[in-house]
Amino acid sequence: MSGSSGGDHGGERNGGAADERSLFQPPAKPPAAIAETGAGSKTLIATDRVSKYYPVQRGIFARQERFVHAVDGVSLRVRRGETMGLVGESGCGKSTLGRLMLRLVEPTFGRVLFDGNDITHVSQRTLRPLRRRMQIIFQDPYSSLNPRMTVGEIVGEALTIHRLVKTRADEEARIVALLERVGMRADALNRYPHEFSGGQRQRIGIARALAVEPEFIVCDEPISALDVSIQAQIINLLLELQETMGLAYLFVSHDLAVVQHVSHRVAVMYLGKIVERAPAERLYREPRHPYTRALLAAAPRPDPERKRVRLVLEGDVPSPIDPPAGCTFHPRCPRAVPGTCDREVPRLEEVVEGSGHKVACWNPHTE
Ligand SMILES: Nc1ncnc2c1ncn2[C@@H]1O[C@H](COP(=O)(O)OP(=O)(O)OP(=O)(O)O)[C@@H](O)[C@H]1O
Ligand code: SF4
Ligand SMILES: [Mg+2]
Repeated sequence: MSGSSGGDHGGERNGGAADERSLFQPPAKPPAAIAETGAGSKTLIATDRVSKYYPVQRGIFARQERFVHAVDGVSLRVRRGETMGLVGESGCGKSTLGRLMLRLVEPTFGRVLFDGNDITHVSQRTLRPLRRRMQIIFQDPYSSLNPRMTVGEIVGEALTIHRLVKTRADEEARIVALLERVGMRADALNRYPHEFSGGQRQRIGIARALAVEPEFIVCDEPISALDVSIQAQIINLLLELQETMGLAYLFVSHDLAVVQHVSHRVAVMYLGKIVERAPAERLYREPRHPYTRALLAAAPRPDPERKRVRLVLEGDVPSPIDPPAGCTFHPRCPRAVPGTCDREVPRLEEVVEGSGHKVACWNPHTE
């Protein structure tokens, strides 16, 4: 394995042993670091203090308009060929942040920059060629695939929309090549999503995303709905595609072991804000934020309704409608400093110069 160098780029990925609390079983051999082929220091996509507030339905007597602070002033950048892991409890804003980056959700405040261009307010027409370069893979590969379309139609749709093929034969050849690239047989072309297993459906979702030759993919819990036995296969596929195509990923997951395995850097989110961000190896070795420590210590539990595992921490997450003043984690934090943590908002600041390890906390762990 070799890592990229410099700055706060983590470089190497952490192919280490499975976290025993996780259901994820990493492949026996850690994947090669993609840094050599893809990751550079160049920022591909960045958010600049981006926020998304959703108005809450008002009762007839309500005087003030209230908002869900889904994402609150997040600045995050992902470099070419890099995987940025994003973890946090349910409802903390991970998916909203991913969608903001793709401009599938319009920001309330802040900016989104793609390849140096401010895309925050550009028209849909201007955005169209950029859309091709940014894609998303969803958690549930079944509901995200149209059941009435064949696999060929699903994968081919984007090729047609973006006028990437000239003839029918050309289109078919491209679709077959894409299916083979994700480990599917060419005869999948004329079959329907329901004829495939969960893992194969996720491969179809990946082929669809790859059709337009993207540079950045938001992977929103891409293996959470899959059987443990096939999770590693999909992870390996994503890693291999990254290595060969130089893709950058925002990898959203509740599963800290998976995130550790695939990410160069990891950001921890709590109530719409990034509270800690560091090269992956460093974050897992010496987490500084009390929330990150709590996450690492928390046991995931199966959630039968959503067919996946949820992180469970002591104490309820406060409402994102009226988040607590000061540090929003203070009502649950064992290290809270009265008079400070409940009043002043901590800023995300580097803990050791040049380490790329940033923490938003008035009283972080020091080792
Ligand atoms: N369209 C919407 N309208 C109103 N509120 C929304 C909307 N989308 C998300 N929210 C709220 O924003 C907050 C963040 O939601 P989001 O889906 O981004 O969280 P998440 O971290 O992805 O959660 P999960 O792990 O459950 O997927 C939640 O409180 C959610 O209820
Ligand atoms: S700022 Fe204070 S309340 Fe927030 S995590 Fe740090 S110690 Fe805890
Ligand atoms: Mg989500």
